[in-house]
Amino acid sequence: MTFEPKILGFLCNWCSYAGADLAGVSRIQYPPNIRVIRVMCSGRVDPSFIADAFIHGIDGVLVLGCHLGDCHYLTGNYEAEIKMNALNKLLQLINFSERMRLDWVSASEGNRFAQIVSEFTNQIQKLGTSPINNKEKNSEIRDNLEAVKNVLEDSRLRGLIARQRELVNDGNVYGEQISAEKFENLIDEVIQNEFIRQKIIVKIKSKGKSVPTIANEIGVKASEVLEHIVVLRSRGLVDVDEINEEIPTFISIMGG
Ligand code: FES
Repeated sequence: MTFEPKILGFLCNWCSYAGADLAGVSRIQYPPNIRVIRVMCSGRVDPSFIADAFIHGIDGVLVLGCHLGDCHYLTGNYEAEIKMNALNKLLQLINFSERMRLDWVSASEGNRFAQIVSEFTNQIQKLGTSPINNKEKNSEIRDNLEAVKNVLEDSRLRGLIARQRELVNDGNVYGEQISAEKFENLIDEVIQNEFIRQKIIVKIKSKGKSVPTIANEIGVKASEVLEHIVVLRSRGLVDVDEINEEIPTFISIMGG
């Protein structure tokens, strides 16, 4: 039996949704696996929505907007590109990046809409169902996706993403511009560090654990885990749970 993937599509109202509509009225054939959420602009799609969709077992997510330069709100699709670029980096860390695609479809491109949906559906069929739907392996995947979602909801990465165009194009208040390459490196560094920190938080959200135990569970050196714990304690997100034979255990105090 062929696997029928569950695909979620975020379509912007002004271009891609109209393109999908045109495909429908023109009776252009495309796989029926996509469920559409109409948004006013691709820039409205918060990357954490996509992590959430994956947590709920969606096999693939398409985000479609107007072509660059054609956004009804001028720059919404440029913002979408920046957000999805950061999301893609996070999804690469957990082997999920091929399950998400950002693309552009205008109101007159019914054929292009059908082609993108067909290509993406084939790609997801080849990848198979999301690993979160595999009951034997899903707890680690769920932890990873939760960590990804937490990073995306955290103000550190959001603040950087929100200011990327401004800092790269116009510079800071002193007129100092940051090169696109330097900014990309900064985003990479924040993503790497915050992903590990959120993984630590997920692992200790209901039970205190020692540094070596956490290190073993997330596959990171104990010395590195300790450095992240120090940062998380300074942010008031983690505290000492108890001390057994001089070995402290740490627990998340985020309330999750
Ligand atoms: S309105 Fe279509 S991408 Fe902004």
